Amino acid sequence: MNIAVFASGGGSNFQVLIDKQATGELPVSITLMVGNNSKANAFDRAKKHNIPTLHISQSHFTSEKEYVTTLLHNLDKAQVDLIVLAGFMKMIPSELIQKYRNRIVNIHPALLPAFGGKGMYGMHVHRAIVEYGAKVTGITVHFVDEEYDHGPVIFQDTIAVTSEDTPEDVAAKVLTVEHNSLWRVVRALATKTIAIKGRKIVGTV
Ligand code: GRF
Repeated sequence: MNIAVFASGGGSNFQVLIDKQATGELPVSITLMVGNNSKANAFDRAKKHNIPTLHISQSHFTSEKEYVTTLLHNLDKAQVDLIVLAGFMKMIPSELIQKYRNRIVNIHPALLPAFGGKGMYGMHVHRAIVEYGAKVTGITVHFVDEEYDHGPVIFQDTIAVTSEDTPEDVAAKVLTVEHNSLWRVVRALATKTIAIKGRKIVGTV
């Protein structure tokens, strides 16, 4: 299975995919890394491991159509079977979602459908969790559909939140669990130990 990883930031989840692929635990080829921010550390990680990169931002184009066409062309060229959003901060165009229906996964740093939706990303999520006084948070890996943080849930895991935790503490705990989860979901999809039936995922990650 060929995967493309989309990342806008540090790319620590991307790094886990690279490492697990290198040890043979994750039977995929990472044929493309896509990012919208040229300064993202994820680009350095890709270059270090000779993974082809695409720096693309809608602002480079005069129309959305041109942007989407370029994106689709590059995904085709890299023969991508699965797209993994690992901290990608931009909305995925609907043409991409249609073409890669149930073949785009996202990791969200909370337990959806709570603390999700537009504007709920990164530290915004962890601040909201702490302000609300939630005792539990977690991670959700889900397929991407046309609505923010809404597609079928593939995997969730929970994390306890204490009254002393700062948003930064929560972020650190969540990231550790993300690192242990996303690659397992990708492995399950690559080895077909899970399947989708309507909104439900059957099988084990
Ligand atoms: C993660 O918390 C992920 O859930 C969110 O962005 C962060 C990415 O971290 N969507 P990294 O770039 O993989 O280090």
